[in-house]
Amino acid sequence: MPAPPRKGTHRASRVIALMNQKGGVGKTTTSVNLAAGLAAVGRPTLLVDLDPQGHATMHMGVDPGSVDPSLYDLLLDPPAASGEGLDPLDALMCIRPNLGLLPCNVDMAAAEHELSDVDERQLRLRRILAPLLEIYEFVLIDCPPSLGLLTLNGLAAAREVMVPMQAHFLALQGVGKLLETVTLVGQHVNPSLRVSGIILCMHDENTRHSREVVDDIRSFLEDSSEQDVPWAGARVCDPAIRRNIKLAECPSFGQTVFEYAPGCPGAQDYGALAQSLVDEWDAMQRRMDALQVDRPVEVEVPEPEVVVPRQRQDAEADTAAPDAAAAREQN
Ligand SMILES: Nc1ncnc2c1ncn2[C@@H]1O[C@H](COP(=O)(O)OP(=O)(O)O)[C@@H](O)[C@H]1O
Ligand SMILES: [Mg+2]
Repeated sequence: MPAPPRKGTHRASRVIALMNQKGGVGKTTTSVNLAAGLAAVGRPTLLVDLDPQGHATMHMGVDPGSVDPSLYDLLLDPPAASGEGLDPLDALMCIRPNLGLLPCNVDMAAAEHELSDVDERQLRLRRILAPLLEIYEFVLIDCPPSLGLLTLNGLAAAREVMVPMQAHFLALQGVGKLLETVTLVGQHVNPSLRVSGIILCMHDENTRHSREVVDDIRSFLEDSSEQDVPWAGARVCDPAIRRNIKLAECPSFGQTVFEYAPGCPGAQDYGALAQSLVDEWDAMQRRMDALQVDRPVEVEVPEPEVVVPRQRQDAEADTAAPDAAAAREQN
């Protein structure tokens, strides 16, 4: 197994939940191959398999039956400030150069139920990811096909939501519910959460029907662009991912599309999508640099008027007033 990337090679992390409560729309295919595409261009990337079906884990060639500890164990016993809980590094698998996996195992199916009455049940994945953000610049979360507690954990831990979908009429059904869920999570747990894009999967731009649906999605997003909603800045990602049989074949070999059929349309599309995410991310960081938004604010600390030598401080300790002692503690 390759070694994990070094810590601190990047300044900020882009955490994206791939979410759609419908199954079979391309969430896992996108999570896996986009993650592989980002890693291939040198960006330390973490793939998080939050779906109890374990498809992303299997797609990467890892048997969910053999994983111990897994993301499930971390969710039940996440790291705490007190130092208690499991260490996320114990479950991290470095599966390819620049590519880490938080794998799912067969127990994950029970997670929704077991988490239902624990403290901070929606914030557990956020706690798990916190130390890993020092290592990984991109984090992609493959959400289950539901709006349950696991998906809520994904939304609470992410900064962005990307919605894989197919451009046909029925695919639009349910998007209202999805956006409502994102709004609720934004209001209650994660105010910075934004829907940043729709990823068209299994796309066939040659049919009139799919072109009409894409036009509908674009005009919906355009109408929302000035509104105070979490999807105000969302766009239809470019390129769309064409229907390509190689993408359907590669999971059974435990390979990404870049390994299984480099150069096929699926590899081209996911490669180009990964590059577009990197380009916009780098451009955003340059803008932040220009604005100096992410620079730590330098706080001027006034010099103490009198510097009391250490031994005298200790000698005075017995007689000092409690608040002076507290002040000394702070120094
Ligand atoms: N662009 C594509 N071309 C052909 N088949 C695809 C494509 N994207 C996904 N598939 C196939 O469609 C099925 C559902 O995709 P998947 O990514 O598992 O969806 P989800 O994770 O949303 O349930 C899988 O069999 C997958 O291999
Ligand atoms: Mg899936």
